Amino acid sequence: NIVRVKVPASTANLGPGFDSLGMALTLYSYIEMQQAEETCIVLHGEHLDGIPTDKSNLIYKVAQRVFEEAGVEIPELSISMYSEVPLTRGLGSSASAIIGALVAANELIGSPLSKDRLFTLATQIEKHPDNVGASLFGGFVATAWDGDNAHYVKIDPPKELEILAVIPHFQLSTSKAREALPKVLSLQDAVYNISRSSLLVGAVAAGRYDLLAAAMRDRLHQPYRAELVPGMAEILEQAPLRGALGASLSGAGPTVLALVHREEDQKHELENYMLQTMKSHGLEADTLW
Ligand code: HSE
Repeated sequence: NIVRVKVPASTANLGPGFDSLGMALTLYSYIEMQQAEETCIVLHGEHLDGIPTDKSNLIYKVAQRVFEEAGVEIPELSISMYSEVPLTRGLGSSASAIIGALVAANELIGSPLSKDRLFTLATQIEKHPDNVGASLFGGFVATAWDGDNAHYVKIDPPKELEILAVIPHFQLSTSKAREALPKVLSLQDAVYNISRSSLLVGAVAAGRYDLLAAAMRDRLHQPYRAELVPGMAEILEQAPLRGALGASLSGAGPTVLALVHREEDQKHELENYMLQTMKSHGLEADTLW
């Protein structure tokens, strides 16, 4: 028996919801898995160059974690993966691989683990619940994790909402982007972020587009990461004045995204503006709707 899964990429934080909010994107990874005589891992597509194809492969290791937890032994696997998700750009490529591996391995042995259990396992592996939550449940998710248990609420984002991602041609590791953050935050900045993050969840649930620009502001991580992504600070300020409903750094970056109303007629001007701003800071980028 062969199992096939299709997993969405994701954007995390959406501004204020650091390590908490996530949203699935229409960009996918595809994984096939079956039991084999001897382990064989085949990777397709330009985005997976350099990923190991032996038993140190993430998909293989995560699958073994599922088998261990379920008390079954399947040491040899045939795995094939194709991904549309560029690596280390803030689009949740590792989270989508982890979710794909968990779901495929669980399915292969008759789904003994619940979806909630898979979410907790994924969060333990990824160390934050935002991207894995969005990849596993789809839509917009608000999550919380205390190191042991992961909780979430899924909201279907309003259909009129489109996402424009501007993906610079350079990789930024999550660990480097996390090292840029302060260890301690002022009470004022904490309140600033909690209130915006709460407002954002409510605004998405209620379809209040008019609140998104204010709700997506952040003082916890984006100001500290701005130096790592030239042009980002300017885009975050300007995008809401140029047709975006709101804008944020996608996850740990370097991708920057704008939420746009499907019927916004300045869409293409906004796209050009974001690309040109990156370019004026020396960054080539691709855009993705
Ligand atoms: N919440 C995480 C961060 C997402 O911003 O570091 C990383 O993909």
